Amino acid sequence: MRKIFQLSEIKILFIFLFCWSCSSDEPDDNSMMQLELNSPQNLVVTQINETAFQITWDAVSSATSYQSQVSLTPSFDAFVAPYDNLEDSGNQINVINLESGTSYFFKVRSVRDDKYSEYSEVIEVTTENAAEPEPDTPLKEVATTFSVGMAVSTSKLGGQWDAIYKREYNNITAEWEMKMNIMYPSEGNYDFSKADLIVDYAVANNMDVHGHALIWHAATPSWVENFTGTDEEFSEMVEDYIKTTVSRYAGKVRSWDVVNEAFEDSGGVLRNSVFRQRMGDDYIEKCYQWTREADPNCLIFYNDYNMVINETKRMAALNMVDDFIDRGVPIDGFGFQMHISYNGPSKSLIASTSKEVTDRGLLLHFSELDVRANPNNDLSSLTVERSEQQKNKVKEVVEVYNAIPESSKFALTIWGLRDPDSWLIDFWGQNDWPLLYDANFNIKKAHTGFLEGLE
Ligand code: XIL
Repeated sequence: MRKIFQLSEIKILFIFLFCWSCSSDEPDDNSMMQLELNSPQNLVVTQINETAFQITWDAVSSATSYQSQVSLTPSFDAFVAPYDNLEDSGNQINVINLESGTSYFFKVRSVRDDKYSEYSEVIEVTTENAAEPEPDTPLKEVATTFSVGMAVSTSKLGGQWDAIYKREYNNITAEWEMKMNIMYPSEGNYDFSKADLIVDYAVANNMDVHGHALIWHAATPSWVENFTGTDEEFSEMVEDYIKTTVSRYAGKVRSWDVVNEAFEDSGGVLRNSVFRQRMGDDYIEKCYQWTREADPNCLIFYNDYNMVINETKRMAALNMVDDFIDRGVPIDGFGFQMHISYNGPSKSLIASTSKEVTDRGLLLHFSELDVRANPNNDLSSLTVERSEQQKNKVKEVVEVYNAIPESSKFALTIWGLRDPDSWLIDFWGQNDWPLLYDANFNIKKAHTGFLEGLE
């Protein structure tokens, strides 16, 4: 007997027929297109600069590669080589070697075997305008009422350094080779070899030398820190050091930072250096007097940092200077180091604190200018925006300096040439670009800011 279907089998058949009827027997439009190869969608310009751009689109799952076209016209009849159906497997393209400030049209299609999709939508991309070339007029030619200084070291007196130093600056400071630990490394043995190279370089190139710094707690040789003689012998040793050094360079070194950074950051008190411990609070005036005795014509400066923002320290230093002036202790000038940042201090504070110095009839030296671009460590490279901000701060500093009374003008010194050479990178242990030249000896916007500050 032929058994047709049992009830349970009928149920299964019914369910099967029901499910089959639910699924489509004809592909809908969408799946049909997938089969036929979709065009790339969602084109986005992911990078753009003066000579290149990058476009990314959603990967098309059925595509094995893409063909891109770049044209100068929206009708795609002026192709930009090599982008005439240039084939690549990735869903992204870098279009390079373009003209700046030019509009380009871009489209792309998917490829699989010998099949091609329709082209995508057309995207128009305009490359950025090339930056105006920065003016490279030498600073010393534009700054006619004061000297423009640069911190140098003997390992960087040749090559491109030499060319730029000679062109741009008329005053140099030894960044570290005219400090006591270098010039007087062991008892009774002076070593002026590095200082001589720097001074000779300046003389040969008609530059002034700013001597920096005879006494600085951070560059005191260890034999002086641990001096074994009496206090009187200590004082004689310092007198000999100052007179030997200053007289050696009399007529060649125009000015000296005799004591550098003598005050604590808070409390308005003298730093308790070995000089203060051994010689007493009047060690500073003694050093100033010995300097004057060794070279009656040199200019004698006091130099310190954070002079603009640290009022307590500034007032303590200025009170010392007032006292020196009252009592006839030699002092000619005051140095604001000017290790500052792109975002401070403000121009008005720099101006008002400078006035406190110039009102006293002293020379004012902006002695170690650098402008941190990355004080909060929020950048991994110098952005255009930040370099503009840095430029503005340099411009403000120069505007302030240029506006002080002529009789107080001395020099504005920049603390190093190229960004990667700046002492600040080691000092803060993070990236920064604080100077006026980049790693390749190209002038930065900050250099233009200096020039604009003189206009
Ligand atoms: C720094 C130099 O830039 C470094 O090369 C050196 O190793 C240490 O001194 N205040 C000063 C300068 O007066 O002498 C310092 O220069 C920076 C801070």
